Amino acid sequence: MSAPPPDVVELRDVQLHFEEKKVLGGVSLTVKPLERLVIMGQSGSGKSTILRLILGLLQPTAGSVFFKQFEISRLPRRKLQQIRSRIGMVYQYSALLSSRSVRDNVALPLEELTHTSSDEIDRIVEEKLDLVGMAHARKQMPSELSGGMKKRVSLARALVLEPELILFDEPTAGLDPVIASVIDELIISLTEKSEVTSVIVTHEMDSAFRIGTRMAMLYQGKIIEEGEPEAFKRSTDPVVAQFLSGSTEGPILEGSEDAIAT
Ligand SMILES: Nc1ncnc2c1ncn2[C@@H]1O[C@H](COP(=O)(O)OP(=O)(O)OP(=O)(O)O)[C@@H](O)[C@H]1O
Ligand SMILES: [Mg+2]
Repeated sequence: MSAPPPDVVELRDVQLHFEEKKVLGGVSLTVKPLERLVIMGQSGSGKSTILRLILGLLQPTAGSVFFKQFEISRLPRRKLQQIRSRIGMVYQYSALLSSRSVRDNVALPLEELTHTSSDEIDRIVEEKLDLVGMAHARKQMPSELSGGMKKRVSLARALVLEPELILFDEPTAGLDPVIASVIDELIISLTEKSEVTSVIVTHEMDSAFRIGTRMAMLYQGKIIEEGEPEAFKRSTDPVVAQFLSGSTEGPILEGSEDAIAT
């Protein structure tokens, strides 16, 4: 066996095909302790797929996915469950259970994955809801919440197991610009306060530059640029430049969505 990687996450030459469709054509990426890595890319480029690979919800067609010293793609089910409890996930559409109150949604990972007493669960839930400014809403149902409030609750839920890594899938999608900045600031303060590493997937440039300590751009199944935000702004890659400017002129619309370089 090769030496374990020192990074929190490593993707080594990962390929992912859904039947005929090649989504990832050899992605290599590392996430260092305490960084906030932003993964950018067009809709359908495979950003959520990368997060699902890190969680072990998908298996790569080729290549390896590591969380710390564990090769996620090779773990037996039980071990994978244990490892997953060390990773928090904030889903693209908040994914709160509509039949459970805010309190019960946030308590869910503790109830399902730990033997924590109900008094202790109440204390932890209260603490995490307080961190995201939602303690007042503990008795409400998800249907009574706005999109921004749902995001906050799903953030609290991702924090209850004190994860070492949090994955955020489009944390500000569908929110107005002011609430989006509030969520961005919350992500920054929570990850700093809790000393947790994070991966944030987004196609919103303002958020990407606000949150990211490092960035990677996914295009046609590959990471075509990677670096600190300042370096990213100076990228001479025409795809990156077009993506950052949001222009319709450039290579992005010319390339067919399915044409992935392998
Ligand atoms: N379970 C699946 N079976 C078949 N194809 C899939 C599956 N999941 C995703 N795909 C395809 O893989 C590609 C990448 O999907 P993914 O959800 O990762 O994109 P994304 O970058 O997150 O997009 P968005 O920004 O719209 O959320 C898409 O073309 C999608 O249709
Ligand atoms: Mg997605």
